[in-house]
Amino acid sequence: MLELLSCDQCGKMVLIVNEGSGTLSCCGQPMTWCSEKTVDEGKEKHAPVVEKIPTGTRIKVGAVPHPMEADHHIVWIEVMGDTFLYTKTLKPGDTPESDFCIDPDQVKKVRIYCNKHGFWKKS
Ligand SMILES: [Fe+2]
Repeated sequence: MLELLSCDQCGKMVLIVNEGSGTLSCCGQPMTWCSEKTVDEGKEKHAPVVEKIPTGTRIKVGAVPHPMEADHHIVWIEVMGDTFLYTKTLKPGDTPESDFCIDPDQVKKVRIYCNKHGFWKKS
């Protein structure tokens, strides 16, 4: 549940909220499952960092802030719990972090999407 698929041809992305048995296709071919990476490689850091703040939870992308340039940036940050999914979309020039009014103890999973390096999670 809440798996992400993408089209290798046009870049369309689909979030699955309820898995069925069919195969999703786009541009005439099956869509590709986006795997969630957890281990950073190279100089850019993607693994989400979760911090407790007075108003809830702060999610930062990378121990070192991720670039937020037009050709390389964080597109969104997701925070999931047992009964919620919150998504903050970002754009080039934004700070690669977001605050959520959620008790950190309720957070079960955090994911981010980099337009150049893909999907990353912290469980
Ligand atoms: Fe990246």
